[in-house]
Amino acid sequence: MELRDHTHHHPHGPHQGGDSAAMAELLDLDAAVLHSYLSDVTSWIQRQATDVPLRRILDLGAGTGTGTIALARRFGAAEVIAVDRAEELLTRVRAKAADLNIADRVRTVRADLDAAWPAVEPVDLVWASNSLHEMADPDRVFKDAFAAIRPGGLLAVAEMDALPRFLPEDIGLGRPGLESRCHEALEQERGDTQPRLGPDWGPHLERSGFTILGERTFTIDLTPPQPPATGHYAHAYLRRIRPVLEGRMATDDLAALDTLLDSDGPDGVLHRHDLVVRGTRTAWVARRP
Ligand SMILES: C[S@@+](CC[C@H](N)C(=O)[O-])C[C@H]1O[C@@H](n2cnc3c(N)ncnc32)[C@H](O)[C@@H]1O
Repeated sequence: MELRDHTHHHPHGPHQGGDSAAMAELLDLDAAVLHSYLSDVTSWIQRQATDVPLRRILDLGAGTGTGTIALARRFGAAEVIAVDRAEELLTRVRAKAADLNIADRVRTVRADLDAAWPAVEPVDLVWASNSLHEMADPDRVFKDAFAAIRPGGLLAVAEMDALPRFLPEDIGLGRPGLESRCHEALEQERGDTQPRLGPDWGPHLERSGFTILGERTFTIDLTPPQPPATGHYAHAYLRRIRPVLEGRMATDDLAALDTLLDSDGPDGVLHRHDLVVRGTRTAWVARRP
């Protein structure tokens, strides 16, 4: 989930930071755990695209290709172009496409969208998931997207609304409510100068000339029993935020967190049977008139 976040204006973002291997792992676990969300959101887009032949799709800030692959599967006649500034992530997109025998329909383009829109042919759908909040000037990117989409074509944007939750209220270690206190500390660290999680892109879309067709909040609420990927996902997320929490939480909370991360026993997140995955993501579908 979150895993929106992830980002670079969010110093604590799980996806943030210079460690691209860790970020790639988190993005891939996000996709593994949230495959039903991905299926739901692409199906929702499909229902609004019945009058738009989707031949070419652009995935903006594609990361490891979660959306690229989900869209290529959903729209079997489309070519999907994954755009990202991180070549090491695009390498993963190509590898996944090859594994799935869809390399002929998946292309990658390395580009820094803060600098300029990439030179690609006109597209029928632009998808941007958890990426626009990382851009220096999202409104410029919306305008460039508008120009790149064929008249009648669509833009779909998704963002994470809140930090993901993995822990029950009482984990049997320390005081109840550990995860809430982690989130409070992250919010404090982020402060008022940082963009909040879950920007409301609706007004930006309208200002850029798009007509909004729909806005929908997808609720993620996965309860035990969980597949093993959930433990790895929780571990990757908590490991990523742990350094930011140092000095911002009570020592007993940090000790509990370290037990969650380090224990090979039943207390560790990799082996617990009480993990949840909770969060929400909001998506918009808009049309270029
Ligand atoms: C949190 S990840 C989301 C990845 C993917 N869309 C997903 O939902 O799993 C954000 C991605 O946006 C990319 N990104 C951020 N700013 C960018 C920019 N200015 N130009 C191109 N890519 C950018 C990052 O490299 C990263 O892969």
